[in-house]
Amino acid sequence: MITSTPVLPVMLFPALANAPLDAALFLAGRLLQLCDYRFTTVTPDTHAVILKRMGPRAARDLCEVFGWNLPFHAGLLPHRLLAALHAADALDMLPEGRLRSRIRFSTIGSRIVLHSGYPTRERDAVFFGPDTYRFVHLLRRTLAGGARLLEIGAGTGAAALSLAERYDEVVLTDINAQAVRYARINAALAGCDQVQVLCTDLATTVDGGFDAIIANPPFIIDAEHRLYRDGGELGITVALRMVEAALPLLAPDGCLVLYSGAPVVAGRDLLADALAPMLRASGRPAQYEELDVDVFGGDLANPVYSQAQVERLAVVSVIVGNTTAAPRVRQRSPVKAQANGSAWCWP
Ligand SMILES: C[S@@+](CC[C@H](N)C(=O)[O-])C[C@H]1O[C@@H](n2cnc3c(N)ncnc32)[C@H](O)[C@@H]1O
Repeated sequence: MITSTPVLPVMLFPALANAPLDAALFLAGRLLQLCDYRFTTVTPDTHAVILKRMGPRAARDLCEVFGWNLPFHAGLLPHRLLAALHAADALDMLPEGRLRSRIRFSTIGSRIVLHSGYPTRERDAVFFGPDTYRFVHLLRRTLAGGARLLEIGAGTGAAALSLAERYDEVVLTDINAQAVRYARINAALAGCDQVQVLCTDLATTVDGGFDAIIANPPFIIDAEHRLYRDGGELGITVALRMVEAALPLLAPDGCLVLYSGAPVVAGRDLLADALAPMLRASGRPAQYEELDVDVFGGDLANPVYSQAQVERLAVVSVIVGNTTAAPRVRQRSPVKAQANGSAWCWP
């Protein structure tokens, strides 16, 4: 249960201060942080199995409300948390007086991440899942830090935010306006004051000179054309466009890290083949590595994959440019909350 009144530093983030629904979502996340909330998001398939195992019952704790996304009775939640969800218009009213949250919260390391409710069927659903965890592990062991970081297709922003303490300036882009909202809220929850989030295709409105650019593009052939999943033709078009957009924005010593799915046909990796000329032309060193040989076997039932004779979907990393080993930690002073004069250090 929540026992203390949180200091509300929302006024430090102008993008939230002028958006009451977003400020309410921020408050919900902040209250969960104060409860030491922890939840690891699993794949939709695993989620479905666990929901079936739980049956039609109502949620019994915060993880079941905001992680497993079960219906719940209003009395389960502390009053302030329930009020924040109402204020954020984040609740569905169900029969028999039960409620369901339209949003979920997960954790990665010590950070809390706001993302879309289960199941993520809407075209503008905001993705967070096992791929994000794998992407973050790759990034944290690859990128030491520097002045400027760009994430193209940032979704919740969880990946770039996991590196934020290593960079002075962090720019996130996404084509999905809902993702941009959630990424701003997540940046505030992470206490990152050097983050800018832009709604744009690729990085069209962004100036170059980045020490690092990262991307985990959509890479599935998705009949429902969800922005977080639909990778275009054979699931690789968006990845290719992101790399093409990123290369000119890299500083001379910069590093691009792409994490993606790659369709394999008769032993040939179609993403690797399509990227090769672009990477050669960049004149930068590049490493291509298969991280997992077969991740989304279930999706191969899609007739488009059958027609194209795709035999497996691998997960790969593409690292372009130089990487350095020792992580850098950005120096900064604690942010001061201005409205009530009390100091508040970010976790
Ligand atoms: C698989 S999700 C990954 C999200 C996040 N990077 C992560 O790792 O959790 C792909 C993201 O790319 C975004 N996206 C798709 N097409 C895009 C485009 N043309 N420009 C910018 N973002 C795009 C989607 O909206 C989605 O948020």
